[in-house]
Amino acid sequence: MGQSVVMYFSNTGTTQAIAEQIAVTTGSKLIGVHAKEDYTPADLDWEDPASRSYHEMHAGKVRPAIEAIDPAPIAAADVIYLGFPLWWATVPREINTLLDSLDLTGKAVHPFCTSGSTPIAEAVERLRANYPHIDWHAGRRFATSLTADEIRDWAEED
Ligand SMILES: Cc1cc2nc3c(=O)[nH]c(=O)nc-3n(C[C@H](O)[C@H](O)[C@H](O)COP(=O)(O)O)c2cc1C
Repeated sequence: MGQSVVMYFSNTGTTQAIAEQIAVTTGSKLIGVHAKEDYTPADLDWEDPASRSYHEMHAGKVRPAIEAIDPAPIAAADVIYLGFPLWWATVPREINTLLDSLDLTGKAVHPFCTSGSTPIAEAVERLRANYPHIDWHAGRRFATSLTADEIRDWAEED
């Protein structure tokens, strides 16, 4: 089997906890994606139209800066698990910053998310439309607790 990595963006730890479990279950290297400027609780207030997250997600093509990532393990991987919280039913802009900066052509990318309740379908639809050169596999929303079998079933799906 080829190499795999789990890349994730997480601010309050929910997606990170899932990403850690996926990395253990699939034997993948874990890579955190971090915004250069951390989000404060006020930045994450989706009910405040003046908050940073609200602005970034509603102001067109925003690409917040992210910390540098070592591209070597990503280049060496055939399979990538890509995790994020849903923000307004889609990926936080940092995921766009990441995907704009990496060449994932031909790699199998399995998107996963956590969310309050929104399913992942719309986010995956947009990823497929915006990054058609990537081989997108089935997306999955994970609840906060999950079993190794759940992860394996998803990882083996097309
Ligand atoms: C700015 C913002 C927007 C959000 N939008 C949604 C949403 O549209 N639907 C939903 O179900 N949850 C939404 N949530 C909840 C998060 O998806 C959820 O809490 C997630 O598990 C957080 O992941 P994290 O702890 O890895 O950052 C939103 C949270 C934030 C901070």
